[in-house]
Amino acid sequence: MNIVIMGAGAIGSLFGALLSKKNNVMLIGRTSHVKAIRKNGLNIEDKTQLNVKIPAEDSVDKVTFSPDVLILTVKSFDTISAINQAMKIIDDDTIILTLQNGLDNIDMIEKVVDSKQIIAGTTTHGAFFSRPGVIGHTGKGKTTLGKLNGKKTGRIKHIADLFNEVGIETIVSEDIIKEMWVKAIVNSSINPLTTFFQCKNGYLLENPILEKIVEKVCKESTSIAKANGINLLNQHTIQKTKEVIRSTSENHSSMLQSFKKGKKTEIDSINGKLVDIGKKNGVDSSMNEILVYLVTSISN
Ligand SMILES: NC(=O)c1ccc[n+]([C@@H]2O[C@H](COP(=O)([O-])OP(=O)(O)OC[C@H]3O[C@@H](n4cnc5c(N)ncnc54)[C@H](OP(=O)(O)O)[C@@H]3O)[C@@H](O)[C@H]2O)c1
Repeated sequence: MNIVIMGAGAIGSLFGALLSKKNNVMLIGRTSHVKAIRKNGLNIEDKTQLNVKIPAEDSVDKVTFSPDVLILTVKSFDTISAINQAMKIIDDDTIILTLQNGLDNIDMIEKVVDSKQIIAGTTTHGAFFSRPGVIGHTGKGKTTLGKLNGKKTGRIKHIADLFNEVGIETIVSEDIIKEMWVKAIVNSSINPLTTFFQCKNGYLLENPILEKIVEKVCKESTSIAKANGINLLNQHTIQKTKEVIRSTSENHSSMLQSFKKGKKTEIDSINGKLVDIGKKNGVDSSMNEILVYLVTSISN
């Protein structure tokens, strides 16, 4: 299968490297990363160790084919520009797979691509952009894919099979929107709290006051989800959040990593979007609103 990775940073480069074992993969990333890949190959370190020769370009303008699958792995705040650039190579048969976190990506992609062509995915793999040409695979995880209408078509099963064949453990969900909401709810407490307190994920359960805040944020985010038609139980989302905190206790969340690098965070796509949806539905979203203020107040 011909695959283009749009936004070859941490997670995009990891998936690209693995998928290149059995597919034609082209990475689109920043110039320094592309140059390093051309010189030394793409290196994956830590949980996976790989060095792959893989085509890489710094612009879709240099791509001369339409891929079967375009995997979108830019941060949420880059989605609009990335998908607009990618339109040059997207044809009616190209599937757009977003592996991004955040609750606003699908809406942005749907503005330019027919929703029938969009697949959403969540992944619990952890990847870290170490330096140009080198990605750390910090945690092995599971990936879930789903069509927006929930249908398990032959095409989505085929894509999941391709992922599994290269070692990316993947299942197809009939309710990927719910999966994305669960991920956003989990992230709605872990990401901003670890960023503001500049702590490892595990500290959120070591400090009893922070544990209470985690529970309160989870409950509020779950109420916002319910008001938006996503049927979830507080008990389930709190339990899930604590499981993630325990299993990633030594990690720095992606938001904290962005903050430490002086980069923009995805706070607006996670907590900011929860606030918008909550307000639209008349649901209290003050915890999420405070978290947006806190992270924004310490960001550049
Ligand atoms: N990393 C993980 O473990 C992980 C796991 C699950 C989900 N996710 C989600 O996946 C998404 C990507 O995360 P990430 O950690 O991989 O981010 P990342 O390392 O910042 O990767 C995105 C890359 O895309 C580049 N980029 C942005 N716009 C581009 C464009 N138009 N053309 C070419 N390159 C472009 C960025 O460059 P600049 O930085 O220079 O702008 C960056 O190198 C996020 O939504 C994140 O929440 C990440």
